Amino acid sequence: MVAGRGFGRGWNRSRGKDGDGVSYGPAERERLAAAFGHPGVADAYRYRPPYPAEALDILERIITDRPRRVLDIGAGDGALARPLAARVDHVDALDISAAMVEAGRGRPGGRRRNLRWIVGAAETAELGGPYALVTAGASLHWMSWAPTLARLAPAMTGHAFLAIVEHGPYDLPWRAELAEVIARHSRSPGFDPSFRMPDALAAEGLLEITGRATTAPVPFRQPLASFVEQFHSTASLAREWMSAAECAAFDKAIADIAAPYAVGGLLDMDVVAHLAWGRPAGRR
Ligand SMILES: C[S@@+](CC[C@H](N)C(=O)[O-])C[C@H]1O[C@@H](n2cnc3c(N)ncnc32)[C@H](O)[C@@H]1O
Repeated sequence: MVAGRGFGRGWNRSRGKDGDGVSYGPAERERLAAAFGHPGVADAYRYRPPYPAEALDILERIITDRPRRVLDIGAGDGALARPLAARVDHVDALDISAAMVEAGRGRPGGRRRNLRWIVGAAETAELGGPYALVTAGASLHWMSWAPTLARLAPAMTGHAFLAIVEHGPYDLPWRAELAEVIARHSRSPGFDPSFRMPDALAAEGLLEITGRATTAPVPFRQPLASFVEQFHSTASLAREWMSAAECAAFDKAIADIAAPYAVGGLLDMDVVAHLAWGRPAGRR
């Protein structure tokens, strides 16, 4: 594990990635978050790289209370919740988008008996618990921070952490060209490359950070076409925002940039995850 390298590597540095590096105002957040209700976005999610196993190892390691009940907020298709459910006693996977939850149920591990899907907003949905860990994978920036953290705190066990997790390709050699294309098409003009979710929460007194980690890079290989398609799983680049002509132009531009790096139609990348965890203010 490589500690302390901070969030925002790989295409997380690029405009339009809906993970860390993004700080939305309430109006922009609401407008863009609607993308997660689109079936095309939920479907394209399957082409995102999985979280490195080391990230799951770290999450498992920071759970000390028993039973090991986990709440994953903004679970999406369960990229964290599904593999976590194989390691702990129970996972509640909460997401505001019925389309994302439906996609998640159909993905590997999505129907495990100890995985409960909840369609609802983190700010208002009824929670189970008490939770020995709460995870947020590339999701907290979509939520109202203070009300969300305030209601998480009483639903957590005495030693439970809130863990904020991001992942993505690490130092892509074609990153700069990619960023230009994404900037031309992104529906996220409020992008702020210096924004870091855990630090923003800490600065507002909402989270006391007690640990950080960055996983070692792990290789990820995917067809060029899948690499192009996964961009449409991001809220700011949803197919549903674009005309057919714009989609075709975007897809061609991305494919043209990445194609020289493909071997036999396959792209090789390294994926890293960044984690930060701590105690929400007001926790018992
Ligand atoms: C970028 S995705 C991340 C999905 C997953 N955690 C992952 O790491 O792949 C963000 C998710 O947050 C969900 N979301 C947005 N606002 C939410 C809210 N207020 N409450 C619960 N989920 C929300 C979206 O529907 C979307 O599935």
